[in-house]
Amino acid sequence: MVCTALGEPETLEVVERPSPSCGPGQVRIRVWATGLNYVDALFVQGRYQIRPPLPFVPGSEVAGEVVEIGSEVEGWSTGDRVVASIGLGGFADEVLVAGSVPVRIPTNLSWGQAATLGQSYSTAWFALRHRTVLAAGEWIVVAGAAGGLGLAFLDVARMLGAQTIAAASEPDRLRLCIERGAHEVVDYSTEDLKTRVREITGGGADVAADPVGSTRSEALLRSLGEGGRLLVLGFAGGDIPHLPTNQVLLRNRSVVGVDWGAWAMAHPEDQRALFAEVLAAVEDRRLHPVEPTAYPLEQAGPALRDLLERRVVGKACLTT
Ligand SMILES: NC(=O)c1ccc[n+]([C@@H]2O[C@H](COP(=O)([O-])OP(=O)(O)OC[C@H]3O[C@@H](n4cnc5c(N)ncnc54)[C@H](OP(=O)(O)O)[C@@H]3O)[C@@H](O)[C@H]2O)c1
Repeated sequence: MVCTALGEPETLEVVERPSPSCGPGQVRIRVWATGLNYVDALFVQGRYQIRPPLPFVPGSEVAGEVVEIGSEVEGWSTGDRVVASIGLGGFADEVLVAGSVPVRIPTNLSWGQAATLGQSYSTAWFALRHRTVLAAGEWIVVAGAAGGLGLAFLDVARMLGAQTIAAASEPDRLRLCIERGAHEVVDYSTEDLKTRVREITGGGADVAADPVGSTRSEALLRSLGEGGRLLVLGFAGGDIPHLPTNQVLLRNRSVVGVDWGAWAMAHPEDQRALFAEVLAAVEDRRLHPVEPTAYPLEQAGPALRDLLERRVVGKACLTT
């Protein structure tokens, strides 16, 4: 699926190309599923901070089988099940990557789960274990909790022994959060988020995860108790909010930026170690990634549209 001009996702075109063959140091992966992320839509619309030269194939994380191994590559056999974080190029049947890029996946992961956990779980793990430390017994409130990042935060927080409040809009999203083990839920389209979080926690949450921005951020900040930490993750709601700094001073709160993507690019070895920890937790069933909604590869445009217009509940992927 090729982006030939920046614009709406529906402009992505199916293009047939011959199968690529491996150069030295490369492996070829037969892609079975590609994760769909908000950032893929931003790339196509030209709204991301990086603008790749046209034409390009979007798609940043793939799961599949190794089908060809180039010279000078060790450690892989054909048929190995892998995921690869590739930035671009994933909306395709096959990808070529350097032999150091793929990561072996546990057998208890479906292709869809494997293709959709890399960014979301790495970000949640990085945020809750590196940018702050979420302790067992602490309360965390997660906005956009039925979204990709939100569900990963709920899962990692539960694994760490925290008490979770899922904040989302609409009953089907809240239902999913309950199914995924949220201890409490708040429908912030009908309830006052700050008041409800303070009631539930008996004074205020310890950590708030905010991938939504817009009007949610200030309510999250105000919902924090003594020493509370607001994790700034993204702006799915569209607007970048301005926060009153008196609310940071009060109760000795902190506002913490989380830019996992930039960190992972600058520290690839640390990211490999982090992701290995995530996969080990999946393998021994301490983490339970959600099964995504699957769209056929050639439906990439409508699938991104569904993501942009909030019709996806949970994660989504493209399958070939
Ligand atoms: N900082 C990092 O390192 C990092 C890493 C990965 C992703 N991100 C960013 O985090 C954000 C969320 O990513 P995601 O994968 O969780 O996205 P997602 O699966 O689409 O979920 C986003 C959630 O935001 C809420 N939302 C509120 N207003 C929205 C709107 N106008 N359009 C779409 N969603 C809206 C929705 O929940 P409700 O309707 O329930 O509010 C939705 O479930 C994105 O901006 C992404 O770029 C940041």
